[in-house]
Amino acid sequence: MERLHEKPRRHIVLIGLMGCGKSTVGKALGKLTGLPLLDTDAVIEEQVGMSIPEIFRKYGEKRFRSLETALLRYLLEHQAPESCIIATGGGIVVRPANRPLLRRLGFTVWLHAEVPVLLQRTAHTANRPLLQDTDRERRINELSSQRAPFYAETAHWTLEVGHSEVFEIAQRILERAADFSEHGKNAFCGGV
Ligand code: S3P
Repeated sequence: MERLHEKPRRHIVLIGLMGCGKSTVGKALGKLTGLPLLDTDAVIEEQVGMSIPEIFRKYGEKRFRSLETALLRYLLEHQAPESCIIATGGGIVVRPANRPLLRRLGFTVWLHAEVPVLLQRTAHTANRPLLQDTDRERRINELSSQRAPFYAETAHWTLEVGHSEVFEIAQRILERAADFSEHGKNAFCGGV
């Protein structure tokens, strides 16, 4: 029996493909709310003492996914006193176990962007191992169709980000988060 499901939902969790704007929107949400931003990739890099590409090279993607799962479990078990904004790595939904964990953490928003937008935003990426030495367009198309059902299953709400301005996106998320908090009767968004 999963003990973790008893925990209240408190955070705002951003999911979506590489380049959809999770980190940028996360920062904007942090500025608007004063809540801290937790970036799962950054936490893992710090824990392991290596960059994401180094972790992939040395330990492989499977191990990286296990680190993501361990981090989600840790966040659920060791609730910080206040809510935070959680920006996740694009592939965090690939592990089936992670999807309910993400939903339990809080209001989970899929930042959905079309492939051309993602292509444009990942054009100069050097720290994303899954996009190195490959046909980026084909890869993003593949990832987009493979992962869309996982994002849909995980998200409480989907927002089409397109080329919208980042603070506008953040504002829309906060409006929906407030509704979610009210109707879901959960503890998060105290300061939002
Ligand atoms: C990944 C996305 C990356 C990072 C890693 C794997 C993925 O995060 O976690 O390179 O599988 O889509 P961003 O979505 O922040 O680029």
